[in-house]
Amino acid sequence: MARDQSKQGLLRDTKRLSEDSIGHDSDSDIEATDYLDRDATKSPNHAPKNRHQWWFIRFLGRRSRCCIGVLAAIITLWIILSAGGAFVYKKYQEEPPYGQSPPWYPSPKGGIAKSWAASYEKAAKMVSKMTLAEKVNVTTGTGWEMGLAVGTNGPAVNVGFPQLQLQDGPLGIRFADKITAFPAGITVGATWNRQLMYARGKAHAIEAREKGINVVLGPCVGPLGRMPAGGRNWEGFGSDPYLQGVAGAETVKGIQSENVMATIKHFVANEQEHFRQPGEWGLPHAISSNIDDRTLHELYAWPFGDAVKAGVASVMCSYNMVNNSYACGNSKLLNGILKDELGFQGFVMSDWLAQRSGVGTALAGLDMTMPGDGLRWANGESLWGPELSRAVLNGSVPVDRLNDMVTRIVAAWYQLGQDDETKFPRQPPNFSSWTDDRMGVLAPGSPSPQDQVVINQFVDVQANHSVIVREVAAEGTVLLKNEGLLPITRGGLEKLKMKRGLVERATGKRLTGKFKVGVFGEDAGPGNGPNHCKDRACNQGTLASGWGSGAVEFPYLVSPIEALRKQFDSSKVELSEYLTNTPSITGKDNTVLDDLELCIVFANADAGEGFVKWEDVSGDRPNLNLQSGGDDLIVNVASKCGSGTGDVIVVIHAVGPVLMEKWVELPNVKAVLLANLPGQESGNALADVLFGDTNPSGHLPFTIGKSLADYGPGGQVLYLPNGLVPQQDFSEGLYIDYRYFDKHDIAPRFEFGFGLCYTTFSFNNLQVTSQKAKSALPESRPSPAAEPPSYPTTIPPKSEALFPANFRALEKYIYPYLSSADGIETAGGYPYPDGYDTAQPPSGAGGDEGGNPDLWANYVSLTVDVKNDGGVAGAVVPQLYLEYPAKEGVDFPVRVLRGFDKVYLNPGETRTVTFSLTRRDLSYWDVVEQNWVMVTEGQYKFGVGLSSRDLPLTATW
Ligand code: BGC
Repeated sequence: MARDQSKQGLLRDTKRLSEDSIGHDSDSDIEATDYLDRDATKSPNHAPKNRHQWWFIRFLGRRSRCCIGVLAAIITLWIILSAGGAFVYKKYQEEPPYGQSPPWYPSPKGGIAKSWAASYEKAAKMVSKMTLAEKVNVTTGTGWEMGLAVGTNGPAVNVGFPQLQLQDGPLGIRFADKITAFPAGITVGATWNRQLMYARGKAHAIEAREKGINVVLGPCVGPLGRMPAGGRNWEGFGSDPYLQGVAGAETVKGIQSENVMATIKHFVANEQEHFRQPGEWGLPHAISSNIDDRTLHELYAWPFGDAVKAGVASVMCSYNMVNNSYACGNSKLLNGILKDELGFQGFVMSDWLAQRSGVGTALAGLDMTMPGDGLRWANGESLWGPELSRAVLNGSVPVDRLNDMVTRIVAAWYQLGQDDETKFPRQPPNFSSWTDDRMGVLAPGSPSPQDQVVINQFVDVQANHSVIVREVAAEGTVLLKNEGLLPITRGGLEKLKMKRGLVERATGKRLTGKFKVGVFGEDAGPGNGPNHCKDRACNQGTLASGWGSGAVEFPYLVSPIEALRKQFDSSKVELSEYLTNTPSITGKDNTVLDDLELCIVFANADAGEGFVKWEDVSGDRPNLNLQSGGDDLIVNVASKCGSGTGDVIVVIHAVGPVLMEKWVELPNVKAVLLANLPGQESGNALADVLFGDTNPSGHLPFTIGKSLADYGPGGQVLYLPNGLVPQQDFSEGLYIDYRYFDKHDIAPRFEFGFGLCYTTFSFNNLQVTSQKAKSALPESRPSPAAEPPSYPTTIPPKSEALFPANFRALEKYIYPYLSSADGIETAGGYPYPDGYDTAQPPSGAGGDEGGNPDLWANYVSLTVDVKNDGGVAGAVVPQLYLEYPAKEGVDFPVRVLRGFDKVYLNPGETRTVTFSLTRRDLSYWDVVEQNWVMVTEGQYKFGVGLSSRDLPLTATW
């Protein structure tokens, strides 16, 4: 049975829109470069005038050939949608702003870091033997559905370089059978447990390798979570760059420890789903995230820096524009920040169709285009492939840029040991992303006849990874409220005898027999099964993952009710199930509810990637409310349970913060658990916490506010386009999530870092040890530890790019070959972006993989004794927040997270925890110095405790 890929279906529609609105053919490469890749100082005159009119005329022209009625409806809708500010459009009507992203050329070559030197040496030997076509093949995807994985590049057969197989995503192996559905990133972030972050990455990579995948398309550290309603925040680890950075880096290390390449994504500032891509939202262009230099460094690029330092093989650039230049063609971002300043040695791949120009992206530092198709899905027309061969032959893409692209990809393959078959078997994927059938074709995206071969071998790669899933899910469950109720016992009664008396008094009835527990809410049950909706894009049954490319096919999902049924002692507990959000519990005669002594209510909130929508959730959530009537359900149950005196436990599964104001303070809501997105072991992990087998140790990776407005103007998704290139100004700067709440002294419902447990911990004896003297700037940038490979720069003969004789080409499949080289001249006068000929000075913050090594040196350490004062063993998360000394002219957040650990303590046990702060941790990004600067006057203040607002110990340095 062929899988009906919703993504494909939708994207085919998108493709049509895209064609209409963009109006570029892939062969109009120069136009695309000029028009779409608006780098800094380029004159506005390079772009067509009144592009909105031109687009609209094309729109009309095309539609007049089809249905006028549909057209009228679309226009009306468009007008209505934009009515809020129709003419907010005015502001950007003529031209979106230019010159906001400075040029940074030429693209720095890989091969400067000692840590990669051996791999670059091997890569250079291989690349020097490749023909032009082979080199281009390695850089370009073969097209959507032109391989078994979601992304496949071309091989260089004669030199022994294989096709690389790329597969989503952060939660497990997408579109595959017999794999593990891990907890989402946000749940991992909530564990604050470095070992589990690493372990999840490692287990994921074992499954990838055993399924034949070279490159995992994760972890995700962008979006960072600027907007709590952002659709994909759950793929990442929480709304703080430090937490994201640690979790991202640990995941990268875990993945790469198994010889699988990790991809850190999405670089950068893809903070919302609305307008992330041209076409998808009926607009000719993607949104532009407009960010100042300091904010970019201190928030959004920060976690990518950790991943680079951890040796990540690949970076995926995002769909959106940054400062009005597409992220995958933004030379400042890719050449300047990523490759020069952060010293990234691997390769940059585009998000799927995030490449918007051919030559421009090559010059700006893109190394691999995915899935290979260019401006439109699945049409076989690439912006690279044959066009890159042509561009090299006509001199518009310098030969050494192509060599660098390929060398980076091949070096990454060597770096991960994938050349060693004892570590990484050379096998194509043993599953197909596109069908569950055993037999099928290798390139289903092509209409050409092909042989049927075995494409699904149904290899079980799950091993015992469910153990990690359960641990992450349990440790990532955050206990937000507990008024002496949790943990409960499996027999129910022991601890709750007193309750029976209360309920009896309220109902005037004598309760006999078993302890009566009611379980409420669709979120407690299996619904129609975990894989009911494609890409998990609907909210039904219990919620264990968000939707989109980050989701997987669940091999199974233990729902909460399944676990509770098994785990409550049925000889002592009578369980009533209301697995709906609208139970009939309103009638006076509802004696069942009257008699309940304990009610466990489940509710949730879902979101996902913007290519699919569910009800009013278009990727991004429209608000922070519980969905499907969850709030009403909780209020209703609380008022009826035991006639209003029964104890209520609320369990929330959610993609991010939800508002709890309607019920969190109700007197009989005695406990609240935020179980995030737990993955396949949901019910078991929840039971571990409810019954006290696991002492909860999760902490919030974001702030739970009392209203969406409390997150400030920067926390609001832009739901209506405010121009043909929607402009989103990150004018709140550094102040997102808790930094905003702290700055404006807004009381959150639950602060960032908050989480309760079943014991108590105390902190003592905070000691500060200076490791190195303060100094404003890092040591000077070291000279490169290695030399990038050098190759001849002469343009290769045209014959290297021609289709080999008797080659049977599949239709729409993307090859590097040209049918004819006639008319290809070395052009001269190619309109390179302004600033292309001005070589940029190397950044003082750069010099090695991860940047200037001094930024990673330890300048100050702190130790603190943590004691378990309670009666049960459990894990504690000591957190360290830093306050910068005041400095004239520089604004600092009230406090920022700069350290955390997780330690397991038996009752009465004390352990000393050490925090080591690096120069980067202690610095701010100085836009004038263009470097990280430490404040040398005054004193740094450190606070250590259990959350961002519970810091009992302080010290200075
Ligand atoms: C997503 C990426 C994903 C890619 C391949 C894109 O739509 O943004 O995160 O890796 O598709 O599926």
